[in-house]
Amino acid sequence: MKFKTTILLMTIMLSILTSCKKDVEKSTAEKTEEITYQGKEISLENDQKIDSLIAKMTLEEKVGMLHGNSMFSNGGVERLGIPELKMADGPLGIREEISRDSWAPAGWDNDFATYYPAAGSVAATWNPELSYVFGNSVGQEARARDKDMILSPAINIIRTPLGGRTYEYFTEDPFLNKKLSVPFIVGIQDNDVMACVKHFAVNNQETNRGTVDVLVDERTLRELYLPAYKAAVTEAHAYSLMGAYNKFRGDYLCENDYMLNQILRGEWGFKGIVVSDWAAVHSTVKTLENGLDIEMGTPKPFNEFFLADKLVEAAKAGEISEEEINKHVKHILRVLFQVKAIDGENRIKGSLATEAHYKDAYNIAAESIVLLKNNKNLLPLQLDGVKSIAVIGNNAMKKNALGGFGAGVKTKREVTPLEGLQNRLPKDIKINYAEGYLERYSKNENNQKEEVTLDGPVTVETLDEVKLNEAIDAAKNSDMAIIFAGSNRDYETEASDRKDLSLPFGQKELIEKVLGINPNTIVVMIAGAPFDINTIKEKSSALIWSWFNGSEGGNALADVILGTVNPSGKLPWTMPKKIEDSPAHATHSFPGGESVTYKEGLLVGYRWFDTKNIEPLYPFGYGLSYTTFEFSDLKTNKQTYSDKDVIEVTFNIKNSGDFDGKEVAQLYVSNPNSKLERASQELKGFKKVDIQKGTSKNVTILLPIKELGYYNVDKKGWIVEPGTYKIRIGNSSRAIKGDVSISVN
Ligand code: BGC
Repeated sequence: MKFKTTILLMTIMLSILTSCKKDVEKSTAEKTEEITYQGKEISLENDQKIDSLIAKMTLEEKVGMLHGNSMFSNGGVERLGIPELKMADGPLGIREEISRDSWAPAGWDNDFATYYPAAGSVAATWNPELSYVFGNSVGQEARARDKDMILSPAINIIRTPLGGRTYEYFTEDPFLNKKLSVPFIVGIQDNDVMACVKHFAVNNQETNRGTVDVLVDERTLRELYLPAYKAAVTEAHAYSLMGAYNKFRGDYLCENDYMLNQILRGEWGFKGIVVSDWAAVHSTVKTLENGLDIEMGTPKPFNEFFLADKLVEAAKAGEISEEEINKHVKHILRVLFQVKAIDGENRIKGSLATEAHYKDAYNIAAESIVLLKNNKNLLPLQLDGVKSIAVIGNNAMKKNALGGFGAGVKTKREVTPLEGLQNRLPKDIKINYAEGYLERYSKNENNQKEEVTLDGPVTVETLDEVKLNEAIDAAKNSDMAIIFAGSNRDYETEASDRKDLSLPFGQKELIEKVLGINPNTIVVMIAGAPFDINTIKEKSSALIWSWFNGSEGGNALADVILGTVNPSGKLPWTMPKKIEDSPAHATHSFPGGESVTYKEGLLVGYRWFDTKNIEPLYPFGYGLSYTTFEFSDLKTNKQTYSDKDVIEVTFNIKNSGDFDGKEVAQLYVSNPNSKLERASQELKGFKKVDIQKGTSKNVTILLPIKELGYYNVDKKGWIVEPGTYKIRIGNSSRAIKGDVSISVN
């Protein structure tokens, strides 16, 4: 962890305290060091070399670097030793090698990679250290595949639960988003490979993503949609960003002067490169002048790209200066030097699909699983007297490394939930498997699977008689049952949003039937986004939420079910009771048409539900454990603060149950007397703490006063209002265990 720094402030304070009071009983305080992740800045030390390289290049060679020269690389200049910049998708791991000039797989046999849990899962761990582990692990895989850039992480805010890419994004909350994005990026870039943070910005829906003009007010933009990008640039020092498909205030994001030149480079000092999303460029001179560096795209002759022959012509006609072109070439050369793609002595070589990487994937998966309900203590599963278990549901066998429209991973290992149980259960327990329901999609006129679109056909809801009867038999003839339901990556997919929250393929009916037959039934949902599970919540007594959870997902799930792992995942978004309760839908501002106005403004996710007093099905930050935690002794180190201060919020958490476990303490702030519109509370800190049963830990969360600021549009900056703030500590946005007031003057 080369660039990860550890602030030992609290530890030092504690050791001073303990050395002063030598006789006092040994402190029970947990090591409270706060890990911060700081990326390495792009070096300018090669600038002279770069300038002399540029001086030797022809116009055509320079332009060759500014657009795709294959599906996943730009052009290099061989005679000058400038290599192509080689890219790979994407959020779930390193995508298989794609042909140079089409989407067809290249057919390699050495590009099998680790399939990592999707971003929603990482977010549910609420563990920045695991986010670093993910980035670092996938960074090594990128190097082993000789890549210079990973098109990851994807960090758009989840504005609607229906978003097709919800599983690929982290969260609805800007604070959690930035705290997970930064370590992820640092982890990747610690391996001499660039992270390409996407999709910049306000790309919060798939419907009309190629054309829709997003209209969002300035304060909301700054407070919700940009913080993680800003942190990616100013803290993680991301070497590249991807411009999104959509428009923002009238201009496409890949030619958006305000976003790319003014905010990204001007305000944040970004020195890396902006790469377009695939075929997201619409002009030549405007695109380059407004800040894009490399145009990437889908198959058509590469010289027909906007930043190819057309750019050469524009330069020759004097419509764009060669200085402008040089500027972008320089950006690219700087990052190539930065990751040692040029002059690359001692460049990290990486490793692919190793046991260590599978273990990383396992660790993330294991901490991501959310226990939603456990009324009769069916969980963890007690095997005494159990001779047979019905395992029901297509999702017990479903693989999600590939599927749908978006980037996936070709992998040799994806442990399914059924295989996980087979791996972990004693061999004398009989598993009676029944598929239960069939995945059914409507077909289009070419007899291909129809995309799930907002207006189009979705599923055939009827259950298959034979499958249903098999499931009923299995449930009847087994001591207990586990249903694996939810969705999959064909159903939740890039390029389209879901029509509604309903569970596809008749699963709701199937689950109700099985619950009626065998009350000892555990329901496991596997999905990347909220679904309507109202009746399942009501009728089941044990309910688990899992994700598209990577190569080791099935093993992690079995370990949670059997209690080897105590669940510690927390929802990174709000699960609504009905879609009309969600802000974008309540305000009728999704999906828009030519344009979409984000009418809910600042009130995205729990900010809306809490401010408007709408009860969610499951709140943001929610997740149970097999043990119980008690919070007490909440205090701050002072009562009154000024704007440069850092509040030290301390409290005690006791593990009062029968299992060791991890709890996520969440710190929300409210400013009830604010003169401005503010959400009733906002997440401003959190910490995941490992506590053995029967013991307690003192926990400290450091809260810089500047986190309390709002974006003042007139002053174009962040301002902390003086006054009284309430600091609230809890283990979900709706389970506040204590609060304390402080003043800011
Ligand atoms: C997606 C990107 C992805 C790119 C290349 C686009 O359609 O929006 O996230 O990296 O394709 O596969």
